[in-house]
Amino acid sequence: MNNSRFARTAGWLALPCLVAAGLLAWYVTREPATPFSASDSADAALVSRGEYVARLSDCVACHSLPGKAPFAGGLEMATPLGAIHATNITADREHGIGAYSLADFDRAVRQGVAPGGRRLYPAMPYPSYAKLSDDDVRALYAFFMKGVQPAAEANIPSSIPWPLNLRWPIALWNGLFAPTTAYAQKPDQDPLWNRGAYIVQGPGHCGSCHTPGGLAFNERALDESGAPFLAGALLDGWYAPSLRQDHNTGLGRWSEAEIVQFLKTGRNRHAVVYGAMTEAFNNSTQFMSDDDLSAIARYLKALPGDPRRDGAPGQYQATAAAPDAPGA
Ligand code: HEC
Ligand code: HEC
Repeated sequence: MNNSRFARTAGWLALPCLVAAGLLAWYVTREPATPFSASDSADAALVSRGEYVARLSDCVACHSLPGKAPFAGGLEMATPLGAIHATNITADREHGIGAYSLADFDRAVRQGVAPGGRRLYPAMPYPSYAKLSDDDVRALYAFFMKGVQPAAEANIPSSIPWPLNLRWPIALWNGLFAPTTAYAQKPDQDPLWNRGAYIVQGPGHCGSCHTPGGLAFNERALDESGAPFLAGALLDGWYAPSLRQDHNTGLGRWSEAEIVQFLKTGRNRHAVVYGAMTEAFNNSTQFMSDDDLSAIARYLKALPGDPRRDGAPGQYQATAAAPDAPGA
């Protein structure tokens, strides 16, 4: 009896000890309170992924002004009808896109339709961004919502007079010229080619400068299925040369490594970045990963030239080599 009483007393004494040990174990291993939820660590990765997609897409080039907050808008762009301004795309709820849902954002970026059905002018390169993958759009949205400082910068109204400023005709233009589906992998091409095609046609929107325009200010081809794709175009007084394998006027004499070098460092033995390409280099191509630059180079090297446009191969070879030669 004494023994069992002892056992009971020991049991009662052990209980608080166990509870105390449990509390201690909980206390020393507990996770401190944080305003973030468990899913936010994934979000941080998504935000930085989105920042990279924004680099590939060069959103900053149009949506930022020197001396102002990034993405707060303001760049004036000429359209055939008058001047418009790129808008504030920070997460500011009043002036920017802070009230946009992911779906709103997607419709604006890939289809050129802002909330309320307002059609955007294709000065915003959504005919190219239409090719963006769902994952890249989701990442971009995360970046603009969580990775960019909101800026209360008011948008500048366009100077296009009524009735030219009516936006519904743009919907018809879109029906004719803007693709509605994301880039589809070509199974007969290798992954590097496909990645290059995706960047060049989609986020990189290289064709918006390098592809000649049609009568309706559309790009005459949006991918390699059209011969005019990246065949060279005049824009704002600059000539954006052919990026095809034209021997004299295109990239026919450039190796893949030389294309990578140009896009990464702004120069190579053939050319130096200038004019409108400076902005693409400063804000976009120099930040692209080596893998992505190699993919672009692989893809461009696979676009045939056109001797009718380019002239007989080798015609200008001697002059092209001349900058290094004495007296050139
Ligand atoms: C070549 C210039 C250019 C580039 C590059 C560009 N935009 Fe735009 N964007 C514009 C212009 C101009 C407008 C305004 C169009 C209008 O008023 O119809 C616009 C409008 C928008 C709008 C609609 C905002 C609103 O509610 O009015 C969004 C969202 C947007 N851009 C996001 C982006 C994102 C994201 C990127 C990069 C993936 C990007 N833009 C790259 C020129 C550009
Ligand atoms: C905003 C307009 C614009 C965009 C967008 C643009 N380029 Fe250019 N690019 C130019 C202009 C103008 C030139 C001619 C000036 C120069 O050589 O730097 C040029 C030159 C080049 C050259 C050198 C060609 C030569 O023969 O000297 C390469 C290569 C090139 N661009 C690749 C690209 C790629 C790849 C993209 C897309 C990721 C791209 N560009 C997007 C305007 C643009």
